[in-house]
Amino acid sequence: MSQLYCRDIISALEFSRDIMDSIFEEADSIRRELGGKKILDYCKDKIMVTLFLEPSTRTRLSFQFAMIRLGGIVIDFGLEQAASIVKGESFEDTVKMVDGYNPDIIVIRHREPGSAARAAEIASAPIINAGDGWNEHPTQALLDLYTIRRELGRIDNITVGIMGDLRYGRTPSSLSYALSRYRGVRIVYIAPKELQIRREVLDKIDGLVEFRMVEKVEEVIEELDILYVTRLQRERFSDLAEYERLKGSYIVTSDLLKKFKRIPLIMHPLPRVDELSRDVDLLPEAKYFAQAENGVYVRAALIKHILTI
Ligand code: NCD
Repeated sequence: MSQLYCRDIISALEFSRDIMDSIFEEADSIRRELGGKKILDYCKDKIMVTLFLEPSTRTRLSFQFAMIRLGGIVIDFGLEQAASIVKGESFEDTVKMVDGYNPDIIVIRHREPGSAARAAEIASAPIINAGDGWNEHPTQALLDLYTIRRELGRIDNITVGIMGDLRYGRTPSSLSYALSRYRGVRIVYIAPKELQIRREVLDKIDGLVEFRMVEKVEEVIEELDILYVTRLQRERFSDLAEYERLKGSYIVTSDLLKKFKRIPLIMHPLPRVDELSRDVDLLPEAKYFAQAENGVYVRAALIKHILTI
């Protein structure tokens, strides 16, 4: 039986290297099977609820596609239901109510850090954290590592630059935790001082990963295998003037990249705003759309582990 059978997925720190490798192999095999058939039957009769109380495009859709491709059923807690939250219903009551209908799995996104862990205490169905405020986004880390593995053929012995809003972003923390399970990984955090990676993240990877911080991407491009760009999390700034001041402080363009002898693979969890210009899309190193597509296979593999094996 999978170690993840019936488990909640709250933090990328819960993933061992073995479990990630087996999810990646499963994702490859689901991808192959879906080449022949549109709908598989691993999750026939299973019901997933997607409960997204913060905006989402890719994550919600890829979870829904993943479950439907596995033959399962999806019920989306849509904007109409969010009406009762507007009426004042607490997050805890909403989770209790949804869980009471007896779904097999609940995928949750909420603006408060720690919300997915709170939901897991209340619900009897397994909870998947699809983003809890600035804290974590563990399934994004899985698809990021899966993309690296497919593109580079390995996750060990690589140098990854993580750039952008490392303070308010939840993908840099989960990505760092997942990378820390592999050997010989170096991370360079690239951000203006105000947006550098949170201390608590560094404390958790200390001794497992070699890391350093820089302010300018130009300083490090040639040593990177991957440049992982993230957007400024406008919605998490308490001071919008600070957002306006910082938003132009790093922008990756094709002209910038072409100045260097070696261009790393470019990744981004998307959505992008100004930090990654569209002309980069034409470079063979641009991998962010492939990365988004990988989300369906990786999430299907994870759901299969939690529900069936
Ligand atoms: C990210 C998120 O929601 O944290 N998006 C995603 O899930 N693909 C990144 C972001 O919103 O900047």
